[in-house]
Parts: sequence; structure tokens; C-alpha cells
Amino acid sequence: MRISVIGCGYLGAVHASAMAELGHEVVGVDVDERKIAALSAAHPPFFEPGLPEILASATASGRLRFTTDISEADDAEVHFIAVGTPQQAGGGAADLTYVDLAFESLLPHVADGALVVGKSTVPVGTAERLAARLAETAPHAALAWNPEFLREGFAVKDTLEPDRLVYGVDRPESAAVLDRVYRAAIEAGTPRIVTDFATAELVKTAANAFLATKISFINAMADIADATGADVTALADAIGHDARIGRRFLNAGVGFGGGCLPKDIRAFTARAEELGRGKSVAFLKEIDAINLRQRQKVVDLAVEALGGSVFQKRIAVLGVTFKPESDDVRDSPALDVAVHLKGLGADVIATDPEGIENARERHPQLEYTTSTEAALADADLVVLVTEWREYRGLDPVDTARRVANPVVIDGRNVLDRDSWRAAGWTVRGIGRP
Ligand code: UDX
Repeated sequence: MRISVIGCGYLGAVHASAMAELGHEVVGVDVDERKIAALSAAHPPFFEPGLPEILASATASGRLRFTTDISEADDAEVHFIAVGTPQQAGGGAADLTYVDLAFESLLPHVADGALVVGKSTVPVGTAERLAARLAETAPHAALAWNPEFLREGFAVKDTLEPDRLVYGVDRPESAAVLDRVYRAAIEAGTPRIVTDFATAELVKTAANAFLATKISFINAMADIADATGADVTALADAIGHDARIGRRFLNAGVGFGGGCLPKDIRAFTARAEELGRGKSVAFLKEIDAINLRQRQKVVDLAVEALGGSVFQKRIAVLGVTFKPESDDVRDSPALDVAVHLKGLGADVIATDPEGIENARERHPQLEYTTSTEAALADADLVVLVTEWREYRGLDPVDTARRVANPVVIDGRNVLDRDSWRAAGWTVRGIGRP
């Protein structure tokens, strides 16, 4: 099929490449010339495992091209809108500027019979509004909402092999078009839910709200564990065996961050309030508050571990990205902790395998190194805040030799405490004795 993808940021670049990988003929459109130049040269402007490979093969085959000229989307049968919906400055609501701009600029290029498909995460009600606008200007085209559930670090796999497909449509023909787009996944037996616009929009919001709730729930349990000498990891293992609960997303620690969960729960709260249903999701404010307290908790643990003050103490912060296998530092708990410690007068040195460049752009006041060894050298305290494989796999004996003081705060509860303690370390975790 001929497909256009409007917006070539994280979501759009992955989606465009994956669609080409499935054999479609794809044009990716973005207003950012630098991004388009990078993608055209098969260099993704961000780190995502597996993306360079499919991007290179699709651009080389001629099935995928990138442009800043939206008129090149003219002959597409399906247009995906994949622009960002950041948090509004000074409020929790989603900023729909990019969705509206992309949609308006696309309208003159929508051919009769084409399908415009929203992938961006939007407040419920957006699709209906856009469909009305489309009916005015391109009455022979249709709109669908097809939310995206990809996780950073697994984005290519999640796009090629989604665990479900959700279509929000207002006519059966639109679902048939999407079935052709995703034929490979459907033939592989991927569950597919065909529903209305509002439900499709809400599926995404509800899924992220639920995931955030799971994480803040276990972090709340970690706090109770801290007060009672219980171990939240054993607790999570035990409740996780109940299939109704499940073990995934029950890892207590410094909390969730990134470009999705934090902003999505705030946008959901703001939208529900607009709808006069604020009370129904008021708990999400507490989910957000619990999450932010986790960052403070790690800072407090650091102060405590250093005898009441971090002033002029050398602290190695392991990790700056919001999670491993990503270079994304948006709303990163790890970077927040590093900045807080620096604010308290600590001599912070932060390290990360992929995120340093992005972190430096946001917080140039911190000292960075890509070398774990250099970060650890003579540290008075080690704070592990992003569970990259290289940090989980650190050898406690060797690491003890590098630091000035063998004390580690395991902000993700991933270290094998027995072997670290055996090597002379004081280990502090979250919700663990
Ligand atoms: C999330 C959703 O998982 C995805 O479906 C949606 O499309 C976009 O938002 P992502 O932001 O890539 O994806 O990250 P995810 O793997 O969900 O992790 C989010 C945050 O939660 C990370 O900071 C992670 O460290 C944290 N987390 C996750 C925990 O603190 N504990 C857990 O048990 C799981």
C-alpha cells in the first residue's frame, strides 16, 4: 500500500520504517529538515535497538523515503499522524498544537477514498473533532484512530508484532483498510479490537494509567516495607504469582519517567476534569505524587548514607535515561536525582551508555562521563538509578577497589545484595531491609 507518516519523531520514524519493512511504500514527512536529512541517510536521530537495520534496508530498497514536502503525501492511500502531544507549559493538559498543525497541513493532500489514521496519544474527543473537520474539507475520505503501544527499547518489535491492534472507526471500510496495512500481524493471530473513536483514544490513556498505577502501587508498598522491615521484592514476587495481578510492572524503585506515562496521566486527569469527571480519576494525582516522592526518597537515602550531608561528596550516578535501552531523558527520574544531589552541593558525576548527550543539553551544570570506571573512581557514594545491563553486571569486588567508600544505593533494586555485601559494600535499596 502507499502510506504517508506525518511526523518523524520517535513514534513516526519507527512506524514509517516498520511499515516499509512490511512491504508498503512509505513516505515520512516532517517539518524538521535536520531530522529528515538524518533519516534519509538512514541515521536515526535517537537510539533505538533494531531501528538502524530496518531503516537502512527500507531506504536502500526504495520503499521508504523522507521529505519535508507534504505534497509528496498526495497519492497515499493511508496517512498516519504520528506527531507528539507534549504536556502544556504551565498545566497538565496535552498540547495539541502539533496534531492540529499536521492535520491542517495534510488536509489539502488527502485524496478521495484515502484514510487518515491518528496514532498520537490524544485527549478523548479529539478524533471526533478531526473527523468533523475532515468531512468539511475532504468528504470522500475517512478518519480512524489507531493508538500505539510501543515501548522505547522494544519499539521495532512492538510495532511489527503488536500484542493487540485497536481501531477506532466510524465505518467498516476503515477497519478493512487497516486490516490490509497490518495484514502480517493479523495473519499471525494478533487480537484486533474494532471500536468507536472515543474508546480507541481511551484504550491508550487507560493502559498507561493502569501501568503507572501498578508502579506507584508497588512503590507505596515499598514505603510500608521500609517502615516495617519487610522486603518489597519478595512481596512483588509473591503477589505477582496471582495471575490476576501478574509480576510485570511491579518493580519498586525510583519510579516511572519518560515521554509517556507521566504526561499521559496528567493529560488524562485534565481531560476528565474538563468532562466534569475529575473525581473518577483523582487517584491519578496520588499516583503522580507517589511517583515523584520516589525521586526524593533516593536523594534522602543518599544524604543519610553520607551521614547527613552530601556537600562536596563525590557521588557517582549510574544512569541518566528514564530506562535502559533508550537515550531518552525526558522526565527521567535518574537525571532528576542527579540534579537534586548537585543542588545540595554534591560533586556529582553522572554516567550512561547512551543518554549523556541528551542529558548535557538539558542540564549542562552536571559533570558527565561515558566511562563507568571514570564515574566510579574515588566515589564516596554510588547511586544506581537506571538499570542498564552494564550496571547490573558490575563486579562488586572490582567496583569496591575503584571507589573511596563502598556504599551503593540501588534505586532499581537490581543488585545481588548478598554478593555486594560479601564484597564489603553497604547496600541500600527501595523497600528492602
Ligand atoms: C510506556 C508504555 O509501556 C507503552 O505501552 C506506551 O506506548 C508508552 O509508554 P515507555 O515509556 O517506553 O512505554 O516505558 P516503560 O517500559 O513502560 O517504562 C516506563 C517507566 O516506568 C520507566 O521509567 C521504567 O523505569 C518505569 N518502571 C517500569 C518502573 O519503575 N517499574 C516497573 O516495574 C516498570
